[in-house]
Amino acid sequence: MKIQATDTPLHQWSGDCLGVGFFEEQAEQSAAFGTLNSALDGLLQEVIAENEFKGKSGETVWLRTPSGSGLARKIVLVGLGKPEGWSLEGLRQAAAAIARTAQKQKGKTVAIALPLWEQNATLSAEAIVEGAVLSLHQDNRFKSETENGSRLYVEQIEVLEVGDRAAAIAKAQQICEGVILARELVNAPANVVTPMSLADTAAQLAQELGLSLEVLEKEACEALGMGAFLGVAQASDMPPKFIHLTYKPSGTPTRKLAIIGKGLTFDSGGLNIKPTGSGIETMKMDMAGSAATLGAAKVVGLLKPDAEVHFIVAATENMISGRAIHPGDILTASNGKTIEINNTDAEGRLTLADALVFAEKLGVDAIVDLATLTGACIVALGNDIAGIWSPQDELANALLSASDQAGEKMWRMPLEDKYFEGMKSPIADMKNTGPRPGGSITAALFLKQFVKETPWAHLDVAGPVWTEKESGYHNTGATGFGVRTLVNWVLAEK
Ligand code: BES
Ligand code: MN
Ligand code: ZN
Repeated sequence: MKIQATDTPLHQWSGDCLGVGFFEEQAEQSAAFGTLNSALDGLLQEVIAENEFKGKSGETVWLRTPSGSGLARKIVLVGLGKPEGWSLEGLRQAAAAIARTAQKQKGKTVAIALPLWEQNATLSAEAIVEGAVLSLHQDNRFKSETENGSRLYVEQIEVLEVGDRAAAIAKAQQICEGVILARELVNAPANVVTPMSLADTAAQLAQELGLSLEVLEKEACEALGMGAFLGVAQASDMPPKFIHLTYKPSGTPTRKLAIIGKGLTFDSGGLNIKPTGSGIETMKMDMAGSAATLGAAKVVGLLKPDAEVHFIVAATENMISGRAIHPGDILTASNGKTIEINNTDAEGRLTLADALVFAEKLGVDAIVDLATLTGACIVALGNDIAGIWSPQDELANALLSASDQAGEKMWRMPLEDKYFEGMKSPIADMKNTGPRPGGSITAALFLKQFVKETPWAHLDVAGPVWTEKESGYHNTGATGFGVRTLVNWVLAEK
């Protein structure tokens, strides 16, 4: 898809579909309305009146212009809500509404004219491109034949009224490539995305982008004492892969960061098997943290920031066989801590434990992990908001502002040390699960046992990585959540 910024005036743009945004109750006062309405001899005014278009957020109305008018073939009016609440996320959603309408109308050439956010044409252009591109992304890889309705009609998008923004547009397109990679990894079922295929994806990124890659096989993990990760992996017929992908800038790095993603390509629950109704059939998504990690690696490789970044995934499945860990088994992690497994379905934290120990040994300045860790986090924050835990306010705030800029919602949760009492084991250093109340907090406290002094943050993304219904710039299925927050965080000054 070709995307560019042009300064064609609205009434001279003559492609298939022109999308224009209007703030609530202000449509008729706006310059865009005046220009288009007089070019249309008052038709726009009539359409707005007939449709009772108010400009409320989410409202869309489209009209066909008279042939020979020299205008766009169709004009889409999009409501933006109150101007006080205008945001980058509003821009993404409005651009998505325009792109979706153009696609439904089978438009090939599309123009988007929306008000800037805080006079910042660069960030505004980026947000418009993200909203349009991500809303048009469809994953038809697993359909035998592309059905008529599912082909992509939109071929070209022009962003109007943002000045010359070629660099911003290119950057946003690269960010979208990372988000789309993450979505496709999560959408693919567990018989397609396996620990081996995740390692292959990392190898492909390494080759394309000049990153370095180390994949630790089972024996190498054994040598490092990764008993927690390997305990989870031991029932699967697929070999585990511990993936370590590294981006190094050409000069001296300004800082060194590690990003860890939970990479369970399928979570059956193990011997504490997930019963019917628990969502076992969606557990291909239990590698969404690793998908965001690899998606971010792609973008970092393309954008080449000044920071050094380590991308780490302890990839495996959580399965059942004669070799499966028994409830009650005791595993020893690579930092020497022992864990009594009182529930084999709390497997993500076990894989992350060894990944955290590995990351800290790299001597990085900060570690962030992303994991579809607990159903309890979904109970606490719902499907749209990720939980964030960190002992360090500075790191937590940096991630919160990165997420805010990305429009990926997060809410800081407490690391309530007292709750770790529920994880005490009579026989080992700790159990892997505590009581039901505060389940996402005890999971975070468990992870904390495997980080000594490096600033660390944990993101529980179980809710927002998946959506059952199309909304905004997300389509049904994987959302690619986390990629844009990670990229903003890596790109930030500090
Ligand atoms: N992968 C799941 C968490 C999950 C649930 C992700 C729903 C996405 C949607 C995780 O491994 C898990 O099974 N957690 C258990 C922990 C419990 C046994 C303490 C849970 O949340 O029920
Ligand atoms: Mn589980
Ligand atoms: Zn899991």
